[in-house]
Amino acid sequence: MERNSKGKRDKTSARKVVRIPPDTKSVVLGVTGSIAAHKSAELASLLVKQGHEVFVVMTQDATEFISPLTLQTLSKNPVTTSFFDEKENWRPGHIELADHANLLLIAPATAHIIAELAHGLAGHPLAAIALATRAPILLAPAMNGKMWEHRATQENVEKLRACGVEFIGPEEGMLACGYEGLGRLWKVNDIAFRAEFMLARQDNLIA
Ligand SMILES: Cc1cc2nc3c(=O)[nH]c(=O)nc-3n(C[C@H](O)[C@H](O)[C@H](O)COP(=O)(O)O)c2cc1C
Repeated sequence: MERNSKGKRDKTSARKVVRIPPDTKSVVLGVTGSIAAHKSAELASLLVKQGHEVFVVMTQDATEFISPLTLQTLSKNPVTTSFFDEKENWRPGHIELADHANLLLIAPATAHIIAELAHGLAGHPLAAIALATRAPILLAPAMNGKMWEHRATQENVEKLRACGVEFIGPEEGMLACGYEGLGRLWKVNDIAFRAEFMLARQDNLIA
């Protein structure tokens, strides 16, 4: 196990091998650099309570908003923050996560990750997983209302929708940036419910 600058063991660089019990669904929960990132903690808990294996993948900026340790504890799995966390397995961990995922859920999804995904960029594990996975993708955007309504963002959203990516929210309300408008992360309970619906849909339980 690696050690950080204080000589302590770096728990977030722990082995990332994906071992999922049969019949368990695997949800990759992407977290990006939004003020709403703290809500991903409750979402991870809900998904675990719903009986799923949850693998959190964070952008570097997301780690400024919420600690990987919090999400590691709540998800009960190691958290991926960098391609270079993955040192023990011959197979890249992000490809393993992409292959085993039954759902990729990114909540909150920044304007930046939406743009990256719309353009097929793969500069960090979360974006690479979104390209490599064939699992359904659900994005829950959160951002300033003007960012959401900007033509560039709306074109990116349309492009992703055309590729089959689904969106939940954002909702209208008071935003952390001080403005009121369309940009708040959708209610976490509803996001978990939609995730459940998308997982069940794969089993043809729901038409
Ligand atoms: C306090 C603060 C709050 C932010 N909240 C958001 C947000 O809700 N949505 C968003 O798209 N960007 C937000 N940003 C800007 C993103 O962090 C920035 O675009 C970053 O590059 C996103 O990177 P990522 O998508 O790789 O995590 C915020 C920045 C700061 C400093």
